[in-house]
Amino acid sequence: TRQPSCQLTAKLSYWVQVRRRRKFGWSGAAVAGRGRATREGRNLVETYTRTALEEASYQEALERYYRDGGPVPHEFPEGFESLSERVSALKRERDAVVLAHYYVPADVQALADYVGDSFYLARLACTLEARVIVLCGVSFMGESVKLLNPSRTVLAPEPLADCPMAHMVRKQDVDVARERFGDDLAVVCYVNSTAKIKAWSDVCVTSSNAIKVVRELPQGHILFIPDKNLGRYIARQVPEKRFILNEGFCPVHQGLDLEEVHLLRRDHPFAELLAHPECTEAVLAEADFIGSTKQIIERIVASARKEFIVLTEAGVQAQIERLTAGQGKRVLYTKTPLLCPDMRMIRAEKLLRSLEEGYGEIALPDDAERANAPLRRMLDLAVR
Ligand code: 13P
Ligand code: SF4
Repeated sequence: TRQPSCQLTAKLSYWVQVRRRRKFGWSGAAVAGRGRATREGRNLVETYTRTALEEASYQEALERYYRDGGPVPHEFPEGFESLSERVSALKRERDAVVLAHYYVPADVQALADYVGDSFYLARLACTLEARVIVLCGVSFMGESVKLLNPSRTVLAPEPLADCPMAHMVRKQDVDVARERFGDDLAVVCYVNSTAKIKAWSDVCVTSSNAIKVVRELPQGHILFIPDKNLGRYIARQVPEKRFILNEGFCPVHQGLDLEEVHLLRRDHPFAELLAHPECTEAVLAEADFIGSTKQIIERIVASARKEFIVLTEAGVQAQIERLTAGQGKRVLYTKTPLLCPDMRMIRAEKLLRSLEEGYGEIALPDDAERANAPLRRMLDLAVR
């Protein structure tokens, strides 16, 4: 059984923290003392630590994970049904539509009208007629929806849910590359970035369209920001271009333990291993398939194989279970669950609050026009 006692849960979460801190050099004092406001403008590559809020969210998610027997609870909590009815009524009343990323908790996914990866959500947002769009995901996702739909009211159920990688670029590094390579350089920006960083860039990409978009660019040099892992992966797929990589990373995928991957491989030699390109080079070297969350899910659903190892945030399990029901497939995950503290801050009660009170309205960011252009260019190039 995967439901250890409370004591064991506490011990496990303690060791997960200790191990991750060893890996990233976190200090307990820094974790406890940092506030969200300090994030902007810092070079998080060197100084990354979880904020106190993220730490609390992570601990809670881990506890829920073990208590529920995995990321998908066998039963939603008491009161879920009436909450769900209230959400449905409010959606109609407010002319609202709810979008969710695959990494948010399973009950929030169940309340959404659409669930998808970053590209799907960005593209979909442009086609929606609703007056209000509630984006259940981290802040760069809500911001992108607002940039693409400035006339709509866009709500983020938890505005403090903020992807750390979205800040991991320094303007001076972009300026140096522009100076050095001039017009032969394209600054390619993963959508996991703030609007301010998008505004420094020529085009955005997501993990599902990056190869296609980069190939379409006329420039020979690519500065890929912020994610070094996705950047390196794309560079290998597009060898005709010269890549300059930035040092940013997703702390969730970066923290995945290679030993746990080897153990899964050893115990399940016939399973297909699917990984998200935010994983490290060493982890990606083990993968049979590399793709976005949506691509991973679709591959499993369509496959004739019976066993799979999935290396990405645990939230994808909700859709995998739903879409493969009755197919007799077995999907395995690392022993230490991959839980994104920021995505896990999006809770069903907060979604309800947003619909009730209009809580978490996203304002159009400064430099909206310049941030919007690379997003639009991505949508253009990705569907050519
Ligand atoms: P995708 O859903 O586009 O694969 O992105 C993963 C991610 O990290 C979102 O924060
Ligand atoms: Fe950011 Fe990683 Fe969380 Fe995605 S999983 S939102 S990249 S921290």
